[in-house]
Amino acid sequence: MSNAVQREAAPDTAWDNTWTNPPRSVCVIGGTRYFGRHLVTLPLDAGIRVTLVNRGSAPPPPGVEHVRADRDDEGALAAALGDRTFDAVIDQVLYTPAQAAVARRVFAGRADRYVMTSTIEVYNPATSPLVRTTPGVPVPEQAVDPAHWPVDLTLPWHDPAAITRHFGEATAYAEGKRQAEAVLAAGDPPFAWASVRSAHVLGGGARDFTGRLAHYAERVAAGRPVAVHEDPRPSSFVHHREIAAALFAVAASPAVGAVNAASAELLDAVGLCELIADGLGTTARYRRAEGVEHSPYSFDRWYAMDTRRAESLGLVFSPLRDWLPAAAAEAVEAVQAAGGPEDATGTPATDGEAA
Ligand SMILES: NC(=O)c1ccc[n+]([C@@H]2O[C@H](COP(=O)([O-])OP(=O)(O)OC[C@H]3O[C@@H](n4cnc5c(N)ncnc54)[C@H](OP(=O)(O)O)[C@@H]3O)[C@@H](O)[C@H]2O)c1
Repeated sequence: MSNAVQREAAPDTAWDNTWTNPPRSVCVIGGTRYFGRHLVTLPLDAGIRVTLVNRGSAPPPPGVEHVRADRDDEGALAAALGDRTFDAVIDQVLYTPAQAAVARRVFAGRADRYVMTSTIEVYNPATSPLVRTTPGVPVPEQAVDPAHWPVDLTLPWHDPAAITRHFGEATAYAEGKRQAEAVLAAGDPPFAWASVRSAHVLGGGARDFTGRLAHYAERVAAGRPVAVHEDPRPSSFVHHREIAAALFAVAASPAVGAVNAASAELLDAVGLCELIADGLGTTARYRRAEGVEHSPYSFDRWYAMDTRRAESLGLVFSPLRDWLPAAAAEAVEAVQAAGGPEDATGTPATDGEAA
């Protein structure tokens, strides 16, 4: 590993955002696993009152009010929240329209603004005939319009295994997010809502539970070939701290609707490996992916995101070259600290299954 690589280099830019009208109280749903943890510390460090809602698998940092509840249990959630009210809610674990319907009812009168963490996967054309993308053209937010997206609340959304059997894993995730956005947007929402459609999140070493950057970094570091499509299509990526900062900035802004959140440059799997190899001071090797056995960020479909709306809102995302090599080095360290690489087949295909 090159000594030139510094751990956690760069991204301070989005942290430096000055918020014109910062919320005085923020509720974060989730907040214990990956970049959700920054959503707790970022407002806390800014002197904002933070309430964390989850089922209590880990204690919150000192100074954070902890509300233990399962967000799927409407009665328990409402009872646990009591008469608390919030300037803004940031919902990190909103995966289905059924959860969004509960959130609408429970937070009506309790929240002024509601921001959900969504995903680039809403644009994956393989997951819906209603999504159309044009190769070479970054996808703008209008490509998936929550105001007009069909919602089917009769599906077994409360049962992840059943919904995965119904749709398949990738579509279950993408369609769950699309329909969740649509439920927030429907009719006359009880709060101002926004959906931050996050690119693939990278960085954070062992905190990145998806193992996808580690998949690349440990292969490149070890000189093992990475399986890529013959003509890999580019995608969008974002640093773990910068996506948290963007979510908070949207919560602190008057913006409504969907916002794509990503570093502006698009990168395909080969470009990703080259950047990783540069950072590790080595050379990447490749092999042609056979069937479905491609590496997790190798795509044969175009759905990289257009970030102009985010830029117009003043969101700041660093160039990938400024931080991706260091994030890869950190991923290699995490793999080594955990006792070596796992078999590639263990790498999740999606980024956010409910814990
Ligand atoms: N990683 C990526 O590349 C990527 C890309 C795009 C979007 N995303 C999105 O990022 C989000 C996840 O981010 P994160 O991993 O940083 O999450 P997080 O904010 O750390 O939240 C995860 C925590 O939420 C809590 N939780 C889960 N289900 C719950 C429930 N039913 N009720 C109450 N609390 C619950 C769990 O804690 P307890 O067990 O204590 O309840 C879990 O540890 C998802 O929305 C995903 O779609 C990720």
